Amino acid sequence: MGARVLSLILITFFTTLALGCTQIEPPNTQPAPTPAPEQGQTAPDLSDDTTYLESFLVKRGAAVQEALNYSDVASVTVLVNKQNHLPSDYIPPDLVEPDIPFTFDEKAEKRLLRQEASSHLEELFTAAKENGFILYGVSGYRSYETQKNLFQYFVRRDGSEEKANQISARPGESEHQSGLTMDVTSKSVNFGLVKSFGETKEYAWLKDNAHLFGYIVRYPQGKEHITEYTYEPWHLRYVGQELALNLYESDMPYEEYLFFRI
Ligand code: DAL
Ligand code: ZN
Repeated sequence: MGARVLSLILITFFTTLALGCTQIEPPNTQPAPTPAPEQGQTAPDLSDDTTYLESFLVKRGAAVQEALNYSDVASVTVLVNKQNHLPSDYIPPDLVEPDIPFTFDEKAEKRLLRQEASSHLEELFTAAKENGFILYGVSGYRSYETQKNLFQYFVRRDGSEEKANQISARPGESEHQSGLTMDVTSKSVNFGLVKSFGETKEYAWLKDNAHLFGYIVRYPQGKEHITEYTYEPWHLRYVGQELALNLYESDMPYEEYLFFRI
């Protein structure tokens, strides 16, 4: 009994001492009090609003993702990036050569595109020409093997896979294998695939008109942290007119539109 009283006294003493020494006010973690409702009104219950909004966004995101068939390699809306790969044996079924000027003469797989992408690229090049801008194709379809060799070339040139992968896709991760992509250029940059193409009048027209033909500039400036590639004003990707318009209007790369859109 005496021991219990003694320990109570000791606990009280040390607690008082501790509070007295540190003099720490407990932080004000309480939320601001909700103002009392006016007479005759009922206070709205907002406690579940965040959950409702989150579940709405998740459901809407899932619906958009499903509607876009982004993981279907046969779809023109297939998402190909560092997380979403094409199978190593995937070859697009309907490769054809668009009737456009190229920067080279040889017959090669890089002239090819899938049928739908090809006819829309012809229309895009014709519209550009009607507005006074002559575009040239540089590189379209690439097989898995070609991409593998190209990536190895950049690894040797730049000294590491990490550095090479900022500008060149690993095999299976390149949109060029999908047959839905064409790198383009103009005489004003000496037919090169160079960042200065982004400062030309040809590009100025292209960036605001490509979506009308179902194409997007896939690796835009300022979105490198999302696309995980450096700026490539020359790399056009066909996604179809509806999605291209949505991506153009939302000013988002494809993966941002699919997964992070609010
Ligand atoms: N340069 C782009 C990222 C590719 O290699 O497909
Ligand atoms: Zn490209």
